[in-house]
Amino acid sequence: MTTSHLKVGSASMPALGLGLWKVPPSAASAMVYDAISEGYRHFDSACDYGNEPAVGEGLARALRDGLTARDALWVTSKLWNTYHRREHVRAACERSLRDLKLDYLDLYLIHFPIALRYVDFETCYPPEWIFDPSAPNPTMVLDRVPLQETWEAMEALVTAGLVKAIGVCNYNTGLIHDLMNYATVPPAMLQVEMHPQLPQHRLLKTAQSYGLPVTAFSPLGAGSYVELSMAEAGDSLLQADPVVALARRFGKTPAQVLLRWGLERGTALIPKSTRPERRRENLELFDFALDEDAKAALAALETGRRFNDPGDFCADAFHRFHAIYD
Ligand code: A2P
Repeated sequence: MTTSHLKVGSASMPALGLGLWKVPPSAASAMVYDAISEGYRHFDSACDYGNEPAVGEGLARALRDGLTARDALWVTSKLWNTYHRREHVRAACERSLRDLKLDYLDLYLIHFPIALRYVDFETCYPPEWIFDPSAPNPTMVLDRVPLQETWEAMEALVTAGLVKAIGVCNYNTGLIHDLMNYATVPPAMLQVEMHPQLPQHRLLKTAQSYGLPVTAFSPLGAGSYVELSMAEAGDSLLQADPVVALARRFGKTPAQVLLRWGLERGTALIPKSTRPERRRENLELFDFALDEDAKAALAALETGRRFNDPGDFCADAFHRFHAIYD
């Protein structure tokens, strides 16, 4: 059954959220406020997006104006790679809370299974991927921190009441199996790239076998990677013939067809849009359903193409090859 909410731990998360990656700080406050007016209640934030203070202003203004209540909102943030050591996890979470002007997060995720050398807040925040941007040959510098250490520190955030639930992003099946062996607080969410080109059937099945809900990021595919020169305009699923044909058949838009596909697989979705008409469009998914023919047409789009792959972008941009997917 396709529902508008997913059970996450003991809570209920709106299945359709607003992604905040690449939203300029200058636009984020108004965008979050407007999105709440439009009906969004789920926001997907991260330290690394560099806009949490502005996101927090939008949230605070909406709460002050009575557009919604805190307990009707779902706010996710993510622990950045430079804060994986046990002693840095709480401070990183508290910094996100301060920036977001919240006293708890609904969900806090390990952003990548990649530990980078610590950079303190005063030196650079958010520190992104490169250890020392002013060095003659700036590179990404790894740290030796087991993921179990980071997870245990994440569990302490739940105990301390800073976050309601914790989870992971960009984990593969092997890391999920391992996490289940040591987690005392079970992960409440797996967030990964997922769209018809990259349906990740085995990863989804593995998560489901543990009762672990999944959020699909970049659910529309290539779009956001074109502007980053990580994809070509021709890679777009929004213009793919089968998607356009299905949109026409159902009287919906290509984006709605792609998002509905994700919903019907039981995943949450967090498409970003700075455009109000697109944000509204992306919420209107509950008045149609894909039939078997439509699902078969979308299944044929699978190519295995992954747009957000550290194995590609770290080598290109940060002078260090560091693959996490085989
Ligand atoms: P824009 O913000 O200009 O609307 P992400 O992969 O991070 O979720 O980003 C989604 C990408 O798809 C963004 O580039 C966004 O651009 C675009 N987008 C979001 N919603 C729609 C839509 N309904 N139709 C077409 N493009 C969309």
